[in-house]
Amino acid sequence: MNDQTVKKTILSGIQPSGALTLGSYLGAIKNWAALADEYNCYYMMADMHAITVRQNPAELRKRTIEQLAAYIAAGLDPEKNTIFIQSHVSAHAELSWVLSCYTMFGELSRMTQFKDKSAKNADNINAGLFTYPSLMAADILLYQADLVPVGGDQKQHVELTRDIAVRFNGVYGDVFKIPEPYIPKVGARIMSLTSPENKMSKSDKDPGGCIYIMQPPEEIMRSFKRAVTDSETQVRYDVANKPGVSNLMQIYAVATGKSFDEIEKEFEGKGYGDFKLTVGEAVVELLRPIREEANRLLADKAYLESVYKDGAARAARTAYRTLNKVYKKLGFVAR
Ligand code: TYM
Repeated sequence: MNDQTVKKTILSGIQPSGALTLGSYLGAIKNWAALADEYNCYYMMADMHAITVRQNPAELRKRTIEQLAAYIAAGLDPEKNTIFIQSHVSAHAELSWVLSCYTMFGELSRMTQFKDKSAKNADNINAGLFTYPSLMAADILLYQADLVPVGGDQKQHVELTRDIAVRFNGVYGDVFKIPEPYIPKVGARIMSLTSPENKMSKSDKDPGGCIYIMQPPEEIMRSFKRAVTDSETQVRYDVANKPGVSNLMQIYAVATGKSFDEIEKEFEGKGYGDFKLTVGEAVVELLRPIREEANRLLADKAYLESVYKDGAARAARTAYRTLNKVYKKLGFVAR
């Protein structure tokens, strides 16, 4: 038996619509590397998703490659994981169209990300932004993924993917594996450092609220020093009343592996100043090896190109197997 038949499959992706954030690292990528030995893994740069919001073409291209370097630097070994660029495997666009015919208008209207993004991009509420979840369902179902490791904000999309797959299977038999979301217990929702009631997001207009994987240490420390806390002085986990402090505790917990109890004890009797510095330093040290390795890889364009080309070829083999099965079930004449 080969690996593919014994190991379960994982697929996940990130939109290169902005520089990679600490939120995406802690909520998603950090888990990916840990899963490589146990699962058959597909990780993509979701460039097709990124164009649902206007992108500068040169920057999109640059960020897609930077994202690839960061994936590898964060521990995804291209020998063990299939790493590819979404637009290189045209089966994604093809299955997305099919699935959009099995996704209901009402379902798409209820998606939180659509509501948020249409509020933020009121002058460009395009059809792609609306049907985005059908493309994401195609990403996942093409690879017959068992697990989809994502942050908490993507749970609704994975649940819709399950509904679409169940609906399709109900009509045509067992075509798709029904995937499960895989969401970390701590780190699933990292908040902005300056407005801790909002998610840390690469599209954040306030640069101080977001930490980027490739950011230099001085800038990271500056953002942590300025992080919003509250009028008390006690480091205590209480999301409702102390969102800023609780967010910093969450970041520190994932960065160090410490529990909230241990963190509360560590900072007993100390002020927020000390606490913010310690969290900042932990993040700097967590990201330092990734940034350094990513920069080293970015100097080797030929290697990165070989990784994404090889990744696309491997991904395409699996993706077209599923797509061909779907086309046959639908009654399309074989090409
Ligand atoms: P995206 O690009 O917004 O985010 C990438 C991943 O990072 C997680 N994440 C966070 N986790 C914790 N705290 C945060 N502040 C934070 N911000 C982002 C996200 O949950 C996600 O896991 N639609 C997806 C991309 C995608 C995808 C897929 C994911 C396209 N196709 C197929 C999985 C499977 C998205 O917009 O993620």
